[in-house]
Amino acid sequence: MVKDKFYVTTPIYYASGSPHIGHAYTTIAADVLARYYRQKGDEVFFLTGTDEHGAKIQEVAEEKKETPKQFVDGVAEEFKTLFKKLDISNNNFIRTTEKEHEKSVSEALQKMYDAGYIYKGEYEALYCVECEQYKSKSDLVDGLCSDHKKKPEVHKEESYLFKLSAFQDDLLKKIKKDEYKIRPTKRKNEVVSFYEKEGLSDIAFSRKKEKVEWGIELPFDKGHTAYVWADAFLNYLTGLGWTTKTKDYKTFWPADVQLMSKDILRVHATIWPAMLLALGEELPKQLFIHGYFTVNGHKMGKSQGNTVDPTKIADEYGADVLKYFILRDIPFGNDGDFSTERLAVRYKSDLSGGLGNLMQRTLTMINKYNVKPKKLDTNVPVKQIHEYIEKLEFDKALDKIWLQIKYCDTYIENNKPWDLAKEGKDKKLEEVLSTVYHYLKNIQKQIYPFMPETSEKMKKQLETLKPKPLFPKLEK
Ligand code: MSP
Repeated sequence: MVKDKFYVTTPIYYASGSPHIGHAYTTIAADVLARYYRQKGDEVFFLTGTDEHGAKIQEVAEEKKETPKQFVDGVAEEFKTLFKKLDISNNNFIRTTEKEHEKSVSEALQKMYDAGYIYKGEYEALYCVECEQYKSKSDLVDGLCSDHKKKPEVHKEESYLFKLSAFQDDLLKKIKKDEYKIRPTKRKNEVVSFYEKEGLSDIAFSRKKEKVEWGIELPFDKGHTAYVWADAFLNYLTGLGWTTKTKDYKTFWPADVQLMSKDILRVHATIWPAMLLALGEELPKQLFIHGYFTVNGHKMGKSQGNTVDPTKIADEYGADVLKYFILRDIPFGNDGDFSTERLAVRYKSDLSGGLGNLMQRTLTMINKYNVKPKKLDTNVPVKQIHEYIEKLEFDKALDKIWLQIKYCDTYIENNKPWDLAKEGKDKKLEEVLSTVYHYLKNIQKQIYPFMPETSEKMKKQLETLKPKPLFPKLEK
């Protein structure tokens, strides 16, 4: 049988500062998808990494009195360490300063230039260095970037432009027909409205070297460096070994799901697919846009200075707890405030008092009453759980899994195994504990994409019948 393939990407994160919970969020969600499809038996490629060129990074490195390369090396390491701590199963971690990537970007730019999609001109626009994005007047709130609350720079200079306008009709059609699918639908509608109201105009694809030195040189004009997004987008291809047309590229392109939040939807819905068309590549199947973590209603971010450190939370509670909480507490697509108080509540009710307690008491009773769990055919709602995961409705999938835990708790309370044992009703006792044991075996498989470490622990305990608290009581 030919295996299905699944290719999932996260944005490559700016190596301009330490990772925060927003970066962990997208990466954790991608990890759930990757693990889910692998568990299903598909061939999976999961790519994440760091975006390491551009004006912002040059600026930060200068402030730190480091070379840009020294600086990004340090930040990339921080991202890698965090993802390791969170047990992220990415197949590759791409850095845009890798030679192979730089070479491919240069070749791609040459190809687009030769085909007439890149031309020399004069460009005038507003630019937010924090986003590394050009802004139209309608994007600004009181003259400031809405995410960063900063006044954009005015650029008016010679540059090489990308003929984005040439793709307006084709892309709008593809987006409307879901050939280039954007979800949730609300986000698709925003993009369609942007195409219809503002439309695509040509955009600067380079800066003069004296303005931005830290970038990939244009192969046809060494006095310019490539616009950081033109360089960054190509990671989704180069991360598969695009230039040398490796087996991974042939197997996995086009991407099945590209995850991101709405800050970078516009560029992913315009420049990115236009570049692919210019290069003669297929378009990704779906962009999925999740919400923002906010702090008191404001987007959490490095430049806003209001970040939550995922390492601290993973150290305190464990990676699985963080993963469970962020996917359970906020529907994936909605914004939500990150709250450590709510995390503590869920830890107590859903994890230590829910799943952990059910495992502990069930295995303890099985041992105490000397029951040998028998095989059963209970009806398990996996189909619905799978559908939710495939639609990226992670909170609902988890909800469905946790309903079974609640069901088992009630079932135990109603059947009172301790009374059955006292009364010598051995057959019934065996049936009750086998039923719960059977549920736990299924739950163990179902939680795997979300909580791989806990799932592994459960598997071992269920095999050996030796209980050990999955979620120890917290000291605080
Ligand atoms: N380097 C670009 C992306 C290039 S992709 C070709 C970039 N980097 S970033 O570091 O700013 O990361 C943005 C992404 O990180 C968001 O799209 C989202 O996936 C994640 N998040 C960053 N902050 C976030 C929140 N406050 N909330 C949720 N996710 C956020 O843009």
